[in-house]
Amino acid sequence: MERSSRRQPAAGRLGSRGGRPRRSGGRPPAQLLLVLLMLLLPGPEAAAAAAAEGKECDKPCANGGRCQPGSGQCECQAGWVGDQCQHCGGRFRLTGSSGYVTDGPGHYKYKTKCTWLIEGMPNTILRLRFNHFATECSWDHLYVYDGDSVYAPLVAAFSGLIVPERDGNETIPEVVATSGYVLLHFFSDAAYNLTGFNITYNFDMCPNNCSGRGECKHSNGSNAVKCECSEHWKGEACDIPYCTDGCGYPARGQCNMNGTKGCSCNSGWQGPGCAVPVPANQSFWTREEYSSPKLPRASHKAVVNGNVMWVVGGYMFNHSDSRMVLAYDLVSEEWLALNSTVNSVEIRYGHSLALHENKIYMYGGKIDATGNVTNQLWVFHIHNESWVQVTPKAKEQYAVVGHSAHMVTLEDGSAVMLVIFGHCPLYGYISNVQEYNLGRYSLTTCLYFSVQFATINQIQAKTVY
Ligand SMILES: *[C@@H]1O[C@H](CO)[C@@H](O)[C@H](O)[C@H]1NC(C)=O
Ligand SMILES: *[C@@H]1O[C@H](CO)[C@@H](O)[C@H](O)[C@H]1NC(C)=O
Ligand SMILES: *[C@@H]1O[C@H](CO)[C@@H](O)[C@H](O)[C@H]1NC(C)=O
Ligand SMILES: *[C@@H]1O[C@H](CO)[C@@H](O)[C@H](O)[C@H]1NC(C)=O
Ligand SMILES: *[C@@H]1O[C@H](CO)[C@@H](O)[C@H](O)[C@H]1NC(C)=O
Ligand SMILES: *[C@@H]1O[C@H](CO)[C@@H](O)[C@H](O)[C@H]1NC(C)=O
Ligand SMILES: *[C@@H]1O[C@H](CO)[C@@H](O)[C@H](O)[C@H]1NC(C)=O
Ligand SMILES: *[C@@H]1O[C@H](CO)[C@@H](O)[C@H](O)[C@H]1NC(C)=O
Ligand SMILES: *[C@@H]1O[C@H](CO)[C@@H](O)[C@H](O)[C@H]1NC(C)=O
Ligand SMILES: *[C@@H]1O[C@H](CO)[C@@H](O)[C@H](O)[C@H]1NC(C)=O
Ligand SMILES: *[C@@H]1O[C@H](CO)[C@@H](O)[C@H](O)[C@H]1NC(C)=O
Repeated sequence: MERSSRRQPAAGRLGSRGGRPRRSGGRPPAQLLLVLLMLLLPGPEAAAAAAAEGKECDKPCANGGRCQPGSGQCECQAGWVGDQCQHCGGRFRLTGSSGYVTDGPGHYKYKTKCTWLIEGMPNTILRLRFNHFATECSWDHLYVYDGDSVYAPLVAAFSGLIVPERDGNETIPEVVATSGYVLLHFFSDAAYNLTGFNITYNFDMCPNNCSGRGECKHSNGSNAVKCECSEHWKGEACDIPYCTDGCGYPARGQCNMNGTKGCSCNSGWQGPGCAVPVPANQSFWTREEYSSPKLPRASHKAVVNGNVMWVVGGYMFNHSDSRMVLAYDLVSEEWLALNSTVNSVEIRYGHSLALHENKIYMYGGKIDATGNVTNQLWVFHIHNESWVQVTPKAKEQYAVVGHSAHMVTLEDGSAVMLVIFGHCPLYGYISNVQEYNLGRYSLTTCLYFSVQFATINQIQAKTVY
């Protein structure tokens, strides 16, 4: 409960959609009168006269704020606060087909809450680009909802720094909403402040606007827009070249323009641009391509057993499509269909996985539905795709998240799983190693740097670094 209340910041539903945006706070009637009076004052002469009598503002008023001659203070537009109206501090309603959302120039305010509702047409695609984002990591958050309230699906939550990996425009994160509305909610705590964010949005724009290497088109019979890439470029944002270095044609390979849209390497060569010899003299990355959506997740774990990579758990935003286990066939290069029995365990993230004899041992982690850190030990039987919970005999067992686990074979041939460190809600980060003996179904805990180090010393066959 505590967790879900954190994830649903107290923005509530915004006011009537057609109406004026609500002011952020109550204004004394006297001041309101003054504003009305000023609005009623005719012509520029009167304004000039007032300015001549009144004080000028020390610094210019930002974001459409007006200098109040009487007081020499900025009179801010709805949503903006600060002596120069330079900070967000309320609610905004945005209706254009494109625009931007920012906390204002410079550093954001301490202890602030700002909400923006971007209103489009129902079921248009709204794409947000995070051109600049810098907030205090894990304290100051921006939440993005695909809809007009905090009850709509949460599609992203940002905190910390977004630093483009390289110069250019292809690494700017984008968030897509499909409902035609986006609600953004920002809050900062009472401590540290940073430069905040500037996020642009557009309706019916393609990923990265097709990177300048294609045309953005409505696909037939749907509201979706899609890039039609120019020749030699692929990917949903037309940001992936078919081939690099011409595949070293003719010596090392050749670009396959019609089929795989990638390099076909001559024998003896592999990798991007067919630049790596077989066998490889260096490590290299390749990017597997598949058109299976609905896979994004974070803080998951993966193990490889034979030809199959098993991806288990993780943090997912889309709860209606969360799947506990995914399996990727490394040879056929496709995601496998799994029995629904793989989903019989509650989704968790920050857990550990260790593989032993066609079984995957999963320990701990944070259960997404409750926010509880668990000490559960589950065994995934690969042969029948099902989970079995194991209750180890143990004097003391720590519920941990963010730990790691390793299978080690002892000198006597028995296998143990070492669960190393982690964070537990009760004690914080712990320096304990928990040792689960697979044969004896027992779990012992030893404190790193303690007398019980002897237990670790028994593991002479293998060393864990
Ligand atoms: C945010 O970005 C928009 C569009 O690029 C720009 O016009 C605006 O000045 C920026 N605002 C701030 C505070 O950086
Ligand atoms: C932001 O932090 C700076 C120091 O880092 C401080 O001087 C400034 O007053 C803060 N601004 C606001 C609006 O809280
Ligand atoms: C997207 O790119 C097209 C040209 O490909 C350009 O005309 C358009 O202005 C761009 N849109 C935005 C929002 O940058
Ligand atoms: C990306 O940036 C490059 C230069 O940095 C520019 O030439 C190109 O037009 C940009 N592409 C898009 C889609 O904005
Ligand atoms: C859309 O329809 C037109 C004509 O019906 C067809 O030529 C075109 O290939 C279709 N485009 C897509 C992306 O399916
Ligand atoms: C690829 O297609 C083009 C035209 O569509 C054709 O001229 C060319 O021969 C084809 N290349 C191969 C390798 O099939
Ligand atoms: C690997 O071999 C290729 C081709 O012989 C060579 O160009 C490259 O420099 C080598 N890389 C390393 C790290 O030795
Ligand atoms: C979540 O997944 C469901 C089922 O696949 C899908 O219908 C829905 O559009 C997804 N929601 C978002 C916000 O991606
Ligand atoms: C899924 O597992 C259940 C229980 O083991 C089994 O009865 C069922 O036949 C399996 N379904 C498929 C499609 O393998
Ligand atoms: C989650 O933890 C709280 C506090 O430790 C406990 O009261 C609650 O029963 C737990 N919920 C579940 C589903 O285990
Ligand atoms: C799967 O196999 C394991 C061990 O062989 C067994 O304990 C478990 O009950 C099986 N699960 C199902 C659903 O058949």
